[in-house]
Amino acid sequence: MTNAFPSGLRTRIEAILARYPNRRAALLPVLHLVQRERGFIGPEDEAEAAVLCGLRPVEVREVLTFYTMFRREPAGRHLLRVCTNLSCSIRGSAGILDHLRRAFGLQPGRTTPDGRFTLVEVECLGACDKGPCLLAGDTLHENLTPAALDAILRELE
Ligand code: FES
Repeated sequence: MTNAFPSGLRTRIEAILARYPNRRAALLPVLHLVQRERGFIGPEDEAEAAVLCGLRPVEVREVLTFYTMFRREPAGRHLLRVCTNLSCSIRGSAGILDHLRRAFGLQPGRTTPDGRFTLVEVECLGACDKGPCLLAGDTLHENLTPAALDAILRELE
């Protein structure tokens, strides 16, 4: 058995596990907690989550690689998620990505050299009628324009 989690985190995970009829069902909330605490879910975290939830490591890997909200490597200080699904694409998400690339040097899947921003493309942020949409940290921004984007990023040091 691995022992990647500090005791405080482990205690909180045990509290989550106790709320579910079986440990396997608690995987998503466990992973969300681990990511909130550590910023991402590394290989040791992944292995430990598998042990605690009674799953095979590959089952945890399948979940981590399916959902775009989980990160398997460290992010910059500000995580920017741009929706590129159909509705946001129709409403201009490609222009938003292009502006991020030209004005800030941001590329999907990359972190800026100063560690300030990480940009990822996501499938849907649940605000399809108000695209293009950006989730900056936990804050959703809708009806984005390049000018609005500039103002949002200026606030994020
Ligand atoms: Fe972009 Fe749903 S398609 S928020």
